[in-house]
Amino acid sequence: MRHDHLITSKQLSRPDIETVLDRAAEIDADPSAVADRHANTLLGLLFFEPSTRTKMSFETAMKRLGGDVVDMGSVESSSVKKGETLADTVRVIEGYTDALVLRHPKQGAATMASEFVDVPLLNAGDGAGHHPTQTMLDLYTIRENAGLDDLTIGIMGDLKYGRTVHSLAHALTNFETQQHFISPESLQLPREVVYDLHQRQDGTGIKEHESLEGVLPSLDVLYVTRIQRERFPDENEYQKVAGEYQIDAETLEAASDDLTVMHPLPRVDEIAPEIDDTDYAAYFDQAHNGVPVRMALLDLLLSDDRGIRGETDE
Ligand code: NCD
Repeated sequence: MRHDHLITSKQLSRPDIETVLDRAAEIDADPSAVADRHANTLLGLLFFEPSTRTKMSFETAMKRLGGDVVDMGSVESSSVKKGETLADTVRVIEGYTDALVLRHPKQGAATMASEFVDVPLLNAGDGAGHHPTQTMLDLYTIRENAGLDDLTIGIMGDLKYGRTVHSLAHALTNFETQQHFISPESLQLPREVVYDLHQRQDGTGIKEHESLEGVLPSLDVLYVTRIQRERFPDENEYQKVAGEYQIDAETLEAASDDLTVMHPLPRVDEIAPEIDDTDYAAYFDQAHNGVPVRMALLDLLLSDDRGIRGETDE
């Protein structure tokens, strides 16, 4: 199997994932060894939605590999404002660059865009769809803190619109995991995602809950997410669930001492700041892991021997 574009975590096998995580660990241990590895390489950044971590960590990663970035800037200041199609925009910018990173509010945008370009295209989030590079740094963080096999993970919050959740849940089916999904009924995982997960895992490793209480003591990792306000068609619907599913020090009294709390960030009010300085909190390390993991992804996709290729029998 060989991938020149990274669009969804569904395309990654366990060996693919391990190739990326192992490369990231190597780079993390000695970043200076790759400092000039991609000199003269240009990465195009096309962000049609707000971003802090994803965009800045891609930029940091490319620069730490010796390359540089060109940034489309905001939608307001680009030709998109004049009515240019996404297909035209990516075709033009691929002529300036060696790889593209795309974030877009519409689900499916990355798949569509990738059909128009030959340079590697990395999906940095397509609406409520997927966010596979976030998943790789999530897996890296989980592997460092709890290991990826025999893992019991709780994924809590906005499971309907949360693209980081959709990507992570799929990727975890490559490992021996028990996944508990905790959300209000209105923000449950989309049924098509549940169907896909059942296909991958016989359904044995997947359970849905409306409350954290019953499952918290059994968890190795609790992955908390933000309610995706911008994706609600109706603000009243958001108001009905806003402020639910928050955790604080009192909540965690029932947790195992070894629990790792993660969050893709940005957080709004899901995790009380009092947890930040406890041993539970891994979310700032998780964000920092975005740099070595994205360095590894870019390195694998930009090397002469291009693509993420693990050992697989597919
Ligand atoms: C996430 C996203 O954009 O999907 N942020 C990120 O990339 N770390 C999560 C979110 O916005 O809630």
